[in-house]
Amino acid sequence: TRGGLSFAVADLELAEFGRKEIRLAEHEMPGLMALRREYADVLPLRGARIAGSLHMTVQTAVLIETLTSLGADVRWVSCNIFSTQDHAAAATVVGPHGTPEEPKGVPVFAWKGETLEEYWWCTEQLFAFTDENGETVGPNMILDDGGDATLLVHKGAEFEKSGAVPTVADDDQSVSEEYRIILDTLRRSLAAESGKWTAIASAILGVTEETTTGVHRLYQLAAAGELLFPAINVNDSVTKSKFDNKYGIRHSLIDGLNRATDVLIGGKVAVVCGYGDVGKGSAEALAGQGARVIVTEVDPICALQALLEGHQVARLDDVISTADIIITTTGNKDIVTAEHMKRMKHQAILGNVGHFDNEIDMAGLARLEGIRRTTIKPQVDEWVFPDGHSILVLSEGRLMNLGNATGHPSFVMSNSFSNQVIAQIELFTKHDEYDREVYRLPKVLDEKVAAIHVSALGGDLTKLSKDQAEYIGVDVEGPFKPEHYRY
Ligand code: NAI
Repeated sequence: TRGGLSFAVADLELAEFGRKEIRLAEHEMPGLMALRREYADVLPLRGARIAGSLHMTVQTAVLIETLTSLGADVRWVSCNIFSTQDHAAAATVVGPHGTPEEPKGVPVFAWKGETLEEYWWCTEQLFAFTDENGETVGPNMILDDGGDATLLVHKGAEFEKSGAVPTVADDDQSVSEEYRIILDTLRRSLAAESGKWTAIASAILGVTEETTTGVHRLYQLAAAGELLFPAINVNDSVTKSKFDNKYGIRHSLIDGLNRATDVLIGGKVAVVCGYGDVGKGSAEALAGQGARVIVTEVDPICALQALLEGHQVARLDDVISTADIIITTTGNKDIVTAEHMKRMKHQAILGNVGHFDNEIDMAGLARLEGIRRTTIKPQVDEWVFPDGHSILVLSEGRLMNLGNATGHPSFVMSNSFSNQVIAQIELFTKHDEYDREVYRLPKVLDEKVAAIHVSALGGDLTKLSKDQAEYIGVDVEGPFKPEHYRY
């Protein structure tokens, strides 16, 4: 705590550098800046206490300061142990008008290279706002990326209802190390204060979720009738998933590979597991560098798309030993097994850009007899097999575009985060119009976000005549497509 502000970041002295990069990013984030101007007088988020769990990068700093400029009180953590940019975290704590000695910004609990215990400790800190009387109060909104903040509230409330946090045997291999840590975190928290999570859950008006994997979790909770508050699926705004997931990764995947290894990508065989939005951007980027791309897919529609883009479609088992680079993008688990890794080429590179680290069996790799790990530099590990050949694993199997590089660039994140801000305003100001279900933003708002970014890039939209609009059955001002249109 300094100057009444509590936080946990690597080094507040990095704030000046962070502020300079935030200033440059603001120019590249026209959507967020337009929302600041549009709502400057209304302050629609006044009274909102937003608990944010999303990669603490420079772009996220611009999002956070947009939320505060619209009146919100905000606390923040990263949603990944490696994705924080420490200068961005420092600048967010210091704020535009503070100093490292007297920070005036937002309580951030995030640094690059957290342990899992630290990660869940940080996530717990999200829920301790201070009201105007100095009392500790919970948030009334969550802004989530991958659903960890939402998960903690749901699990906490579930265990309070059942009366206990379940215990798991030490040798139970079906339970991940991370889930044990979540259970420990909640066990401590429930012992300290009973009823805490139930109270937090009932005060939350809604959550807005950033990514495919977090959205899956929300739909599962809603289907089971267990969702405790309304949710907006930001990921499936067209201006999010069809831009951030695809064009964002097209930029940041290569950035991560280059910063991690600097190997020439051209001429190499690259396997992309999964050809959804993230897989499409990954394959395009690798092919653009001259790699020969092989795609693995379970869905024939996506597989056919890959083939028509000129990529080979094959099973991982059949191509693993020919690949120089393997990237997982499925959002599914158990994609690359320890057996696969044994069969990879010497110094082949393995990385994941799906949300969680369960796509690659890191625990299985570490358990292999005679395996040795040599850290080349942070987030780049060489794993040497007993026969002497080795593979390079990036960011310990976690999001390598954020662990080895700095994630997606500002302009594409401006689209995603504009949807986030609009969704926060929507749920905060109209929460009584929403049930405990998962909703998407209306198309007219999607088109609004796109229009801002079209003009920022110098694009000039054609205007429909009234006659033309009637002929194709739309309004002159949009929406221009029916709900079922897929882009
Ligand atoms: P998506 O659902 O569009 O694509 C995933 C694809 O993987 C689907 O086509 C699916 O059929 C395929 N798939 C599933 N199981 C498979 C298997 N066993 N083998 C081969 N293919 C399989 O999802 P999207 O939007 O592409 O997201 C993928 C993951 O990336 C999610 O976890 C998402 O949260 C994350 N993400 C990561 C970003 C980053 O910056 N690294 C940015 C955006 C999303």
